[in-house]
Amino acid sequence: MLKPIKGSFKGKDVVSLDQFDQKSIKVLFKEAARIKKSKAKELLRTLPGRVAGLMFFEPSTRTFSSNSAAFKRLGGATVEHQNPLVTSSAVKGETIEDTAMMMQQYCDILVIRHPVKGTLARVADVADIPVINAGDGIGEHPTQALLDMFTIWEKFAKLTGIKGLMAGDMLNGRTVHSLIRGLSIFPGNTIYLLSPKQLRLSREEFQLYTKRGIKLVEIESLKQIPPDCHFWYWTRVQKERFADKKVYEKLKLSFILTKKLVTEKAGKKTIFMHPLPRVGEIELAVDKDPRSLYLTTEARNGMFVRMALFSLILKG
Ligand code: CP
Repeated sequence: MLKPIKGSFKGKDVVSLDQFDQKSIKVLFKEAARIKKSKAKELLRTLPGRVAGLMFFEPSTRTFSSNSAAFKRLGGATVEHQNPLVTSSAVKGETIEDTAMMMQQYCDILVIRHPVKGTLARVADVADIPVINAGDGIGEHPTQALLDMFTIWEKFAKLTGIKGLMAGDMLNGRTVHSLIRGLSIFPGNTIYLLSPKQLRLSREEFQLYTKRGIKLVEIESLKQIPPDCHFWYWTRVQKERFADKKVYEKLKLSFILTKKLVTEKAGKKTIFMHPLPRVGEIELAVDKDPRSLYLTTEARNGMFVRMALFSLILKG
């Protein structure tokens, strides 16, 4: 059973955005903002002698590297397994529960990415040390959503009355699932969901989120993008989740963020976000636009938000 954060992170797991309330988000963002402004040398005194275990059963550039950098920048050390299905005893048939039980003999906190939805909740159940979900299949990616929300909050100084656009793979995109959950915590938010019909949110998830009060508007054409969104959140179509690669090929570039689209549809203050990696769904020419944050601020904020989480979970 996942514990709600309720403003106090000490010793807790972070597996789902459903554990969060407004107070917890505010505590986290205050700490992330403090860390972002702090001197590197001072931060090294935060977690000396502590060890984080990083186990990524799926590939990663940002989540792995930013967690690793975050823990080291706080003065701690890391034990790292990238591709444990080849390099750890998982290859011999060790269960994820047993692996976690072993890792907790050596580490103070675990950060795990796994291809199967729900695995992190199972690991959190057996582990006696805090566990952070770094992405569980098509389930959730809570720390990505937290860094995305931090980026929106930094830019607009609020998380209420936000109008956003999410485009791409709503069905399989775990960052989308966590970000909608996160924005549902605050009142007055409306999200337009642009995707081909085959990649809409599952009806179960759509109903779950809308019951929480967030307004979700499903659209299927670039023409339906509303004016003056606070953010556009583009996502890739998740090739690894398709049983039939021909369907993936057909859908993968349904919606492309181009310079032309920006000119026609974006507001002066609209920020452009993407959890990355991108695989063709954002034109390179958009990178130079000062409203594009995906390769810079958004990615860098990931490190600060993860530093804040480590600090709050292990130090309080
Ligand atoms: N945003 C994200 O999860 O990127 P990686 O898969 O590279 O970690």
